[in-house]
Amino acid sequence: MLDSISFIGGGVMAEAIIQGLLDKNFVAPENVTVSEPRDKRRVELTTRYGIQTTADNRAAARAGALVVLCIKPQVLTRVLPELKGNLRDEQLLISILAGGRIATLAGGTGHNAIVRAMPNTPAQIGAGMTVWTVTSNVSEKQREQARAVFQALGKEMFVDDEKFLDMATAVSGTGPTYTFLVLEALIDAAVHLGFSRDQAHDIVLETMRGSILYAEKTGKHPAELRNQVTSPGGTSAEAIYQMEKGSLRTVLSKAVWAAYQKSVLLGETVGKGDLKKPVDA
Ligand SMILES: NC(=O)c1ccc[n+]([C@@H]2O[C@H](COP(=O)([O-])OP(=O)(O)OC[C@H]3O[C@@H](n4cnc5c(N)ncnc54)[C@H](OP(=O)(O)O)[C@@H]3O)[C@@H](O)[C@H]2O)c1
Repeated sequence: MLDSISFIGGGVMAEAIIQGLLDKNFVAPENVTVSEPRDKRRVELTTRYGIQTTADNRAAARAGALVVLCIKPQVLTRVLPELKGNLRDEQLLISILAGGRIATLAGGTGHNAIVRAMPNTPAQIGAGMTVWTVTSNVSEKQREQARAVFQALGKEMFVDDEKFLDMATAVSGTGPTYTFLVLEALIDAAVHLGFSRDQAHDIVLETMRGSILYAEKTGKHPAELRNQVTSPGGTSAEAIYQMEKGSLRTVLSKAVWAAYQKSVLLGETVGKGDLKKPVDA
């Protein structure tokens, strides 16, 4: 059980974590504080969850044993000075910001007990994948508390080096985008064959879900599973031939590499001045 937790920014991800923690009785609602600039959103969060809300980031920073940064990367430069001097040594700062490097967070807040994490969109329904790391002065107890926060969003994986966060941003943080595009393409292909859009949607989603569960349950390498269903001269062999001819693997690999490079680049700019464009992930 957590003594208290604060959120700087009360948007989609903050709400997903709050909901997960409250559902698991991991913290009492009166010990949750959210700072959020919009009046309407503050009322919404208080009414829905019985938590404390404020428009003052400084007050929220002082309130929680854990302080979770849930703002968009482009406002980090404005928020960091508000946190400075308002975090005590025993508090833990958790950031889920895309591109927010530990050095930037530590430099901007003067605080050294930091967790940097990269969750993803399915976290909103408790099916997320969060990859996270810590600074050396995060205690064992704080690690377990951070882990519980990420478990509220789905699965979590601890990594012992911050370099993996940019990689995770490209693979799991951006991952739902690849999946949604593939789903969309397959649904369109099924419609092209003659299925209605509703039929195509259900057939494709069930096929993807079943294939993932099957791969998970059998624990077999994807290539082995694919070979099992590829009869000589059959439909799968024909489809694979076209996917290889169209360089599907190379395109996916290039997409992941480009997302990784973008994440590295973001790390050089987020929290260090005004960002001209919004940042996703
Ligand atoms: N959504 C995802 O699936 C996902 C996945 C991985 C990582 N992330 C990371 O999670 C972070 C939050 O994403 P999100 O989807 O929750 O964004 P969001 O829904 O836009 O939430 C951000 C919240 O911060 C508030 N805010 C704006 N300026 C503020 C300030 N100066 N002080 C305090 N709060 C302020 C916003 O209020 P207004 O609406 O009034 O501006 C909004 O409620 C991002 O950094 C993102 O990189 C998100």
